[in-house]
Amino acid sequence: MRILFLTHAFNSLTQRLYTELTAAGHAVSVEFDINDSVTREAVALWQPELIVAPFLKRKIPDAVWRHHRCIVLHPGIEGDRGPSALDWAIVRGETAWGVTALEANGEMDAGDIWASVDFPMRDATKSSLYRNEVTESAVTALNLALERLARGEKPRPLDMENPMVRGRLRPAMRQADRAIAWHADDTATVLRKIRASDGTPGVEDAILGVRFCLYDAHQEGLLGAQFPEAEPGTVIAQRDGAILRATTDGAVWITHLKRVDADTPQWKLPAAMLLGARLASVPEVPLPPEVAVDHPTWRPIRYEEAGAVGYLHFPFYNGAMGTAQCEALCAAYRAARSRPTRVIVLLGGPDFWSNGIHLNLIEASEHAAEESWRNINAMDDLVREIIVTDRQLTIAAMQGNAGAGGVFLALAADRVFARSGVILNPHYKSMGNLYGSEYWTYLLPRRVTPEQARTVMQFRLPVGAQRAAAMGLIDDHFGATPAAFRTEVDARARALATAPGFDRMLAQKRARRHADEASRPLAAYRADELERMKLNFFGFDSSYHVARYHFVGKVARSRTPLWLARHRDTRSRRDAAGSVAAAAD
Ligand code: COA
Repeated sequence: MRILFLTHAFNSLTQRLYTELTAAGHAVSVEFDINDSVTREAVALWQPELIVAPFLKRKIPDAVWRHHRCIVLHPGIEGDRGPSALDWAIVRGETAWGVTALEANGEMDAGDIWASVDFPMRDATKSSLYRNEVTESAVTALNLALERLARGEKPRPLDMENPMVRGRLRPAMRQADRAIAWHADDTATVLRKIRASDGTPGVEDAILGVRFCLYDAHQEGLLGAQFPEAEPGTVIAQRDGAILRATTDGAVWITHLKRVDADTPQWKLPAAMLLGARLASVPEVPLPPEVAVDHPTWRPIRYEEAGAVGYLHFPFYNGAMGTAQCEALCAAYRAARSRPTRVIVLLGGPDFWSNGIHLNLIEASEHAAEESWRNINAMDDLVREIIVTDRQLTIAAMQGNAGAGGVFLALAADRVFARSGVILNPHYKSMGNLYGSEYWTYLLPRRVTPEQARTVMQFRLPVGAQRAAAMGLIDDHFGATPAAFRTEVDARARALATAPGFDRMLAQKRARRHADEASRPLAAYRADELERMKLNFFGFDSSYHVARYHFVGKVARSRTPLWLARHRDTRSRRDAAGSVAAAAD
């Protein structure tokens, strides 16, 4: 089928649906919802049999939905309407929520229903629910809708009189609805309010006399009791860039802030960085990665062992890895290497594996080119450390999505597994034609053909875990849920550590590294990549700096990139029956 995605952005959900539909053989083109006339033009060029709106902030133009079948995916249960669906579901403590596929009509989210898929709610941020439960349910809902469409069925009208229909029209959530009453709200309420607002818009609040939006909150189970006199809301401790604030019944870590009252554009940054000298008298309470604790807390890197397997977790916010984070992770990895284990499992975080160098920190630095250079070198040091590990076998277990250098970080491991729903963006070009490093010129050709490598890097398209495994980019994908993925990873890691052929596999790995090094040293790959990166960072062409500024500042797109808008490519229009996925194989 010829399908047009009409979407506000090519976000994670849109990318997942795109990979699912192209894998199923549909010809999908994408148009950003920028302007009604541009949308009409896209429809005229692509002549879609179906328009899908996975992520829209306003209603589809009348001239489009009246003449074309349009299915809108709304992140809410049947009957729910409004732009803050998940925000309200979290704040109201809903125990079950859902995704509904609706036929577009003149009213936002009010059309007839093609399918509605419910899921149990989890104590998690809005973005985490969106990237996991909402995304999985949206895939199911859209597939159900397509099946019903193929059978010639019609959508059913919404029946608000039906007592089973729990959803309601709810207004946009305002900052007043999100505001934390530090003297009244308990820890659970504070967490719910911040989670309902993460990653956007955050919860507005004052800290030490400055107004910020708060992001990424985690419960602290121990330290709150050590500051019994602290007024709720007070900053009582700091750790690795995060701040700990007292609540009425404990304390919460807040890792990121954004200034709201400044005249210049502002970005999300680590809390301690923005508070700076204001935290001079606030104690740092370190918690090293390997120290086991039995209470809820937050730390950016955690190491644990089970038998002969070491597990390294690095749930960096948004998967972004700044210079200091790469250095700390590299130190933790070296410590893991020195342990008498046989297998090291690199787990990233539950929502992201890694998205490469930290573009916000680079943007906020005094000298963006210098900081980019430091960051990519720190990232390369980490990747190298994984590649040259010769006493253990390593597993990259991607629980969440990965982009750019983050994908190549995973390829440094001996085995690369991904949760089945994971989306990879193994390319750098969208960030202002960045050449990329992380030893990708060594790691990618080890896994795919030169033609596939070229296509993956040039097409700039997302690759689903299934296709990534089929082309050999990763070794395998499994796990319909994060829990199922973890269970299987643990089983495979244990099996590898106790495999009768372990010594042989390790010997083969050493021999291969030795031969590779003799054929071309790792240092040569790195030097060549960094030579190109130096031009990106310090050269005459400022595309990378411009693209980064736009990305970090979330500057709205003024047109759809041509690699997504196939309808603007005459060759693609002629060949609409073949999918981009097929072309990329
Ligand atoms: N540095 C800083 N922040 C990053 C980041 C990075 N490298 N990659 C992603 N983020 C942030 C986004 O700004 C966004 O922030 P928000 O919480 O304020 O919304 C959040 O992570 C999620 O990213 P988003 O783009 O919304 O996720 P997605 O799943 O729709 O898209 C990517 C995933 C990887 C395609 C996209 O995030 C991307 O292109 N990232 C940049 C990758 C890159 O070029 N890295 C540098 C070269 S190694």
